[in-house]
Amino acid sequence: MHLYIHIPFCSSKCKYCRFSSFVEQEEIKRKYYIEYLKKTIESYKWWIREIKTIYFWWWSPSSLTWEYIREIMFCLEKKFIISKNREITLEVNPKDITQEKLQFYLSIGINRFSLGIQSLNFQTLKEIGRDKKKTIFFALDNFEKLYKKNISLDFIIGLPYQKKWQVKKDIQTLLKKYPFIKHISLYMLEDYYYSKSWKKISIKEEDFLKEYTQTKNFLEEEGFWRYEISNFAKKWYKCKHNLAYWNHSDMIAFWLGAHGYEQGKRYAYPDNFTDYYRGKLQFEEELEEKEKILETIMFSLRTTGIQKSYFCFLDEKKLDYFFEKWFLEKKKNKIIVSEKWVLVIDFILKEIIK
Ligand SMILES: C[S@@+](CC[C@H](N)C(=O)[O-])C[C@H]1O[C@@H](n2cnc3c(N)ncnc32)[C@H](O)[C@@H]1O
Ligand code: SF4
Repeated sequence: MHLYIHIPFCSSKCKYCRFSSFVEQEEIKRKYYIEYLKKTIESYKWWIREIKTIYFWWWSPSSLTWEYIREIMFCLEKKFIISKNREITLEVNPKDITQEKLQFYLSIGINRFSLGIQSLNFQTLKEIGRDKKKTIFFALDNFEKLYKKNISLDFIIGLPYQKKWQVKKDIQTLLKKYPFIKHISLYMLEDYYYSKSWKKISIKEEDFLKEYTQTKNFLEEEGFWRYEISNFAKKWYKCKHNLAYWNHSDMIAFWLGAHGYEQGKRYAYPDNFTDYYRGKLQFEEELEEKEKILETIMFSLRTTGIQKSYFCFLDEKKLDYFFEKWFLEKKKNKIIVSEKWVLVIDFILKEIIK
C-alpha cells in the first residue's frame, strides 16, 4: 500500500506552476487544515496495512509551520504499519533547504527528496518567480554535508530565456558538482496561463524534442536510465512510489484535490476547501476491467512498452499507420514509441486504443 499527501500551501506562486496551490493563507487556516488532515487519517477505515511509500506533494514547507509535518508523520505511524524499507519522499523548493530544516526532515524519517531546480539561468529564474541560482547551490551544499543518498532534481524544457542546450548544460553542471544525485525528472513546459507571453522569449516548441533528446543521451552516458518518459534514475533509484502508481497498486490519498485508488475503486477529494471540509468525495467509481486495461496500456507505453497480451485492445488499422510512419516500433515483442515522437505520446495513445 502507498500513500500520498497533498499540502497545497506555498509561500509564493511560481509563474509556471500548473498545480493548484494556495498562497497567503493565514496561519489559523493552515493549522485548521492540518488538524482536519490528521482527523481524516485517524478515522481512516483500515489500519493494519503496511505502507511502503509516502509521497508529500506540492509542499513548500516555509509557508507552513514545518513542525506540522512531524505531527502528520506521527499520526501516520500511529495509524499504519510503515514498512522497514519505506521510501518517504518530500517535494521541496530549494529555498526551503537549510541545514536545520534538513536535519529535521531526516530526523522524522524523510529519506528521499525531490527538488524543483527548473533552470540555472538567472533571467529564467527571475522571470518564473524562483530564487537565485545560489539558493540552489546552497541547498545542494547542505545535502552534500548531511544526506547524499536519494536526491532527485526537476527541470523544465521551454521556460522563458532558456538558451539552446541550456537544460543539458545545467544538469551537467550540477552532476559535476554534486555527483551523488540519483534521479532526474525532465518535463516539457505545459501550457499554462503565464506561459503564453513566454513563447517569444524561449526556444521554439519544435525544438523541444532536440533539447529533450540531447539531455536524454547525456543522462544515459552518465548512467541514468529512462524508466518513464520524464524520469531518469541510476540503478536502484527509480522512484518506488511512481512505479507503484503506474502498476495500479493501492494508493491512499488524503488532502484537498487528492486522487486515490483502493481495491479497484478510484476516488478524488474536492478541490475546494468548503466541499472538502464537508467530507464529500468529488467522485468515487469502480474501475471497470476495460478502463484498467486502458490505463495499463497508457502507463506501459510511457514506461517499458506495451506487452503482447494487450495488442488485442489496440486498433489494428491505426497501429499499421503508426508503424508505417515510424511513430511506433516493435522491440523485443513490445510496442514502444519511437524517439522522434515521444512528445506526442498522448496523441498516439488516444488514436491507437480501440
Ligand atoms: C508539484 S511541483 C512541486 C515542486 C516544489 N514545490 C518546488 O517548488 O520545487 C513538481 C514539479 O512539477 C513541474 N511543473 C510544475 N508546473 C509545470 C508546468 N507548467 N509544466 C511542466 N512542468 C511543471 C516542476 O518541475 C516542479 O518541480
Ligand atoms: S512550483 Fe512548488 S513552490 Fe512553486 S507554486 Fe508550484 S508547488 Fe508551489
